[in-house]
Amino acid sequence: MGLERSSKLQPLCCAVLAIFIVSFFCVSAPSQAQQRTSPPGRLLASNCFHCHGPSDVSPGFERLTGKSVNKLMKEMRKYRSGAEGDSIMARHALGYTDEQLRELVQWLSSQR
Ligand code: HEC
Repeated sequence: MGLERSSKLQPLCCAVLAIFIVSFFCVSAPSQAQQRTSPPGRLLASNCFHCHGPSDVSPGFERLTGKSVNKLMKEMRKYRSGAEGDSIMARHALGYTDEQLRELVQWLSSQR
């Protein structure tokens, strides 16, 4: 009797285990794909697009893409230093470290 019950449970345990393994891969696979398509620079720059637009199409705001890394770095550091006053951009620039700014402007500069 006891033996019979455990032999019926075995396939059930295998099924539960299989579902667990499959769902683990389903959950982990998209996040890996996302990492590949969203490098840090692009992710950091997504904050800028609320105002500047993701491309040339950003009426009323300066285009950011395709400019030189040095020019963008200089402008962002100037905003961060407060030399441009207490503007929206000064607030934004304060949120990034030098390393993050470099990642961000390198990505912007690489976009046409
Ligand atoms: C809330 C809106 C807003 C967001 C978000 C924003 N900006 Fe700006 N940005 C502005 C405005 C307004 C100006 C022009 C006025 C000024 O100089 O403060 C500007 C100007 C600039 C300029 C100077 C352009 C030039 O040639 O004169 C640069 C460079 C710039 N932004 C980069 C960025 C980057 C990089 C980000 C993301 C980290 C960003 N901005 C996010 C509003 C925004």
